[in-house]
Amino acid sequence: MTDLTGLRLSYTRAALRRTDLNPSPLPQFQAWLQEALDAGLREPYALSLATADAAGRPSVRTVLLRGAGEEGLTFYTNFESHKGRDLGANPQAELLFHWAEHERQVRAYGPVTRVPDSEADAYFHARPRESQLAAHASAPQSAPVASREALDATFAALHARYPGAAPVPRPAFWGGLRVQVQEWEFWQGRANRLHDRFRYARQAEGGGWAITRLLP
Ligand SMILES: Cc1cc2nc3c(=O)[nH]c(=O)nc-3n(C[C@H](O)[C@H](O)[C@H](O)COP(=O)(O)O)c2cc1C
Repeated sequence: MTDLTGLRLSYTRAALRRTDLNPSPLPQFQAWLQEALDAGLREPYALSLATADAAGRPSVRTVLLRGAGEEGLTFYTNFESHKGRDLGANPQAELLFHWAEHERQVRAYGPVTRVPDSEADAYFHARPRESQLAAHASAPQSAPVASREALDATFAALHARYPGAAPVPRPAFWGGLRVQVQEWEFWQGRANRLHDRFRYARQAEGGGWAITRLLP
């Protein structure tokens, strides 16, 4: 057995008080993300995306946040992947950011919708050409592939199909998904495992947010 029971850190970097919180969770999230970017943390816009299928079987994987605004939190993927099929059957997700160096985590839960085609097209064509071809090559994402050689051969065939600067169309099975966050949680590690946690829940009326401190 790998024994990790002796490994522990104490979280003492910062505190989170109610008076520190923005009344709205989006600017609160944007401020924490910006702090992580400014500090040079590696890919602080990478997040864990948890989904569940129609039977409730959960699955989780990393994706990259590509935008955060009033419309929601946006990432891009293959709609026919494991996660894509989960979200087709059960269009809700929870996102998790963990910024270890800042002793912080943020959770965001909500329903998931597709971003408009025009926006997905713009993002797809802003990606490096190799990434565009890779989206075509990995289809359907998450399906078995015979070998690395088979994948490389598909990629080479796509290079031949779209030579030079020939535009690569965005595949219909690839695009953006957006979580319209209904519930957020901001967590700041504290000493003695007495962490600070605040939940923002969207209120039914008035469009405001109810903020609640949670036991750690
Ligand atoms: C740092 C990192 C970033 C990733 N970004 C994405 C992404 O933005 N979109 C995506 O579809 N997969 C991304 N992946 C790959 C996914 O984690 C996952 O392997 C893939 O999407 C298939 O997941 P699924 O079979 O659960 O659908 C990323 C992986 C890592 C480690």
